[in-house]
Amino acid sequence: MYIKEEIKIDCLKAIKRRRSIRRYIDRDVTEELLKEVINAGRLAPSGGNMQPWEFIVVRERDKIKEVVETTFVGFDSKSGQKQSWLETASLLIVVCTDYKRTVARYGEMGRKIALMDTSAAIENMLLAATSLGLGSCWVSGFNQEELAKLLEIPGQIEPVAILPLGYFEGMTKSPSKFSLDEIIHYERYGNLK
Ligand SMILES: Cc1cc2nc3c(=O)[nH]c(=O)nc-3n(C[C@H](O)[C@H](O)[C@H](O)COP(=O)(O)O)c2cc1C
Repeated sequence: MYIKEEIKIDCLKAIKRRRSIRRYIDRDVTEELLKEVINAGRLAPSGGNMQPWEFIVVRERDKIKEVVETTFVGFDSKSGQKQSWLETASLLIVVCTDYKRTVARYGEMGRKIALMDTSAAIENMLLAATSLGLGSCWVSGFNQEELAKLLEIPGQIEPVAILPLGYFEGMTKSPSKFSLDEIIHYERYGNLK
């Protein structure tokens, strides 16, 4: 797989530059770049190296519309409002967790571990997308059962995030983030500098 080195930016720059992108321009993402992003997810750490993730790529426009129908805005699953902006993306990656191996090894605690593993894979993918000049956004506002049914995902596997992928123009302003001084505790909780 060949990606031009000069279009990549380094890891810390990507961490600082990454934003949730919710509007994309009409330009396709190549299979090569898609695979590079998913490969970054595949390389994430996982408890016991169980690698509970699987990925469903949705490119067909009609299918993307059907995926959007399973979404909702904010935490109100009953609002009827959909995350229609997802339709502007070149493609969607539905990130799934298969709990089977992790639960077999760690029991019920394995469910939490598998979700942490999958979150690590998702963040790797968001950073890889940024590094390649692409935009994405971690989307979890959707009805899991409806999405699983639509994509014919078997019972023990759960869709946990939708990652749109696409090119974008301009840059959204960074939302405010707590400063380091507000979140680092030294030696004991509550001892802030
Ligand atoms: C677990 C999780 C779920 C999220 N779900 C959604 C979502 O459903 N829709 C959306 O537009 N953004 C979603 N986001 C993106 C957040 O709104 C965003 O990360 C946050 O506002 C900070 O902005 P930034 O990503 O640009 O730093 C989600 C982020 C996380 C980590």
